[in-house]
Amino acid sequence: MMSSKKPFLKVVVNEGERVRRILLEHDLLDVDYTILSQDGALFLPLRHELVDGSLDEVLGYTSYELGEMEFEPVPSSPRNLVEALQDHLSLEDLELVPRAYDLIGDIAVLEIPDELSDHKETIGQVFHRLHKNFSTVLSKKGAISGTTRVREYECLAGEDKTETIHIEYGCRLAVDLSKAYFSPRLLEEHNRVAQLTKDGEFVVDMFCGVGPFPIHIARQRMAHIVAIDINPDAINLLRKSMGLNKLIGSIEPIVGDARDYSESRIADRVIMNHPSGAFDFVSDACRILKPHGVMHYYDFVGGDNPEEAIKNRLSRLVEAAGHSVATVNLVRRVRDSAPYEFQMVVDAVIV
Ligand SMILES: C[S@@+](CC[C@H](N)C(=O)[O-])C[C@H]1O[C@@H](n2cnc3c(N)ncnc32)[C@H](O)[C@@H]1O
Repeated sequence: MMSSKKPFLKVVVNEGERVRRILLEHDLLDVDYTILSQDGALFLPLRHELVDGSLDEVLGYTSYELGEMEFEPVPSSPRNLVEALQDHLSLEDLELVPRAYDLIGDIAVLEIPDELSDHKETIGQVFHRLHKNFSTVLSKKGAISGTTRVREYECLAGEDKTETIHIEYGCRLAVDLSKAYFSPRLLEEHNRVAQLTKDGEFVVDMFCGVGPFPIHIARQRMAHIVAIDINPDAINLLRKSMGLNKLIGSIEPIVGDARDYSESRIADRVIMNHPSGAFDFVSDACRILKPHGVMHYYDFVGGDNPEEAIKNRLSRLVEAAGHSVATVNLVRRVRDSAPYEFQMVVDAVIV
């Protein structure tokens, strides 16, 4: 079916559901066409033109407008989750349905707002019907917290599991979301740092998690990477990934506190990807680095100029440790972490 000019009834979004039901009861809504949402208003396609005022009685206090515009037909099979849920949720609830999701191996992770908690199983099952290639649909439960940065998940559909193999740039990463931190949104960073590393380098990843930086580097470069994490499950997963990839570099996994890594002036490069806590470890990183070594420092920063803010913060921390930033090679926003807050990275040469 093609798009078509049709009479419409326009109401504000929060009256939409009530009016939609009334129009359906009176067989006035043309269900073959898609309701349009624009600037806080809904345009409901009608079966036929109505005379102004003819709906005053049935709609009661609701103010509405009539007109004519182009409408798209309802697709025969839903193109996305919102379309697939149209028969299950009210119009207000449909507005809250997540438009994006994370893909981790064969697991899809949805973030369902609290307002939709009564519908989360339906959302998960409809999502799974739409994306049959995933084994599992999980929903995030609560925020990431604690030293190990792990969060809880709830299975909404498919196989109840949190373990999978995730592939980034050809790297096979063993992941268990319930046991160790992993975010599929950092793949560009993992690859970027690996590309900067040169053959022969000694690298220390102070907070390696399941080890995406070490695996990316050791797949591409003949470097030695010391991979430290305080979470034994994360290191077990890294060990598993080491067996899943063809590595040309070497990885030395260590379970422990990065502070206890006692080597000094050994590393050409230190990776500090622990944005909520790295600031506390800058003096250890300075100790581990050789003079003119490179630090990849991650932090959460808000404000109007997060680039300047993170550079200043790192300079202060490095100076407090008795060193200085010789050059800043790069500052970049890795991703949004909250409204008006970014996860930032600085690549700095330390002397
Ligand atoms: C944001 S996650 C790391 C993510 C990982 N670099 C990646 O790209 O997936 C931070 C990690 O730091 C670890 N961690 C927290 N405190 C630590 C410490 N004192 N020493 C070593 N690891 C620590 C946590 O267990 C967690 O795995």
